[in-house]
Amino acid sequence: MVEGINDHTRCIVDLRRHMWIGGIEEDLRRLIWQIAVVGKYISAKIHESNRKLAGFKNVYGEDQLALDRISDDILINMLRNSGFVREYASEELEDIVTIGHGQEKYIVTADPVDGSSLVDTNLAIGTIIGIHQNSLFDSGRNSMVAALYITYGPLITMIYSAGKGVHEFVLDREGEYVLSEENIRLKEKGAIFSPGGLRKDWTDKHLKFINKLEADGYKLRYSGGLVPDINQLIIKRGGVFTYPALRKSPRGKLRLLFELQPMAFIMEQAGGLATDGKDDILSLKVTSVNQRSPVYIGSAAEVTMAGQFLSQ
Ligand code: F6P
Repeated sequence: MVEGINDHTRCIVDLRRHMWIGGIEEDLRRLIWQIAVVGKYISAKIHESNRKLAGFKNVYGEDQLALDRISDDILINMLRNSGFVREYASEELEDIVTIGHGQEKYIVTADPVDGSSLVDTNLAIGTIIGIHQNSLFDSGRNSMVAALYITYGPLITMIYSAGKGVHEFVLDREGEYVLSEENIRLKEKGAIFSPGGLRKDWTDKHLKFINKLEADGYKLRYSGGLVPDINQLIIKRGGVFTYPALRKSPRGKLRLLFELQPMAFIMEQAGGLATDGKDDILSLKVTSVNQRSPVYIGSAAEVTMAGQFLSQ
């Protein structure tokens, strides 16, 4: 618990202060802060690109492409000037890009606008960031030092972990990220499930797992955006999100570096689990930038149960 923060005080703690009190190393603090600030600019671009906003003449399809690219540009330019980042890998780029001089401490992975196809529907979307100290071609367990995601919904919220718990901040009207929930911990077992992929493409074992959740009364909660779907598990303190191996794509859909490792880092820090059905997402060695993996992520009971169904 951060000093001075409890139910009886109205003391506002902003992101920088929280990280400083939490003893996060200075360069990492500054990097996380700068990325959080970029979220404000990406949010402005999301507003501009939504075809429902009057005054913007862009065609919908082009907007989607432009939004992803523009957001990537904003992020890479900030990271290039930060002085803390030697390499950058993004869902928008083919390869890892060298952006520093080589001696900088960190490598950053980014999915600048995850779920951008949901922009026109006005559902929440997000930015996902992984921060690594060692090579990306290792396991997340050996390389990651922090992760964060920003949810652009009715509110803009940011959840980060630098290996010292999971904390949520809300962007307030003054443009400051203020602490809203600290040291978030999942319960052992939740009450909701988010099943990705089409039922007709699931394997029999996965289908049996989902049938079991339905029979046990789990509520279906799937938005089609990874960030709000994972955020829901974190904020509701449990449940499970799956994007499994599909009959025609045994590696599933979601990207290890850009989507799964950062979410797994945060989920483990919140006391949950993230596996590919067998092994921890963070223990999987990365062999290519666009590597995909099936995923079972959420509270411990459901992820463990998934593993049991898949191993039968
Ligand atoms: O990878 C992009 C993404 O939109 C994720 O945010 C989301 O979890 C997933 O794809 C949804 O996939 P589908 O449209 O197959 O449900």
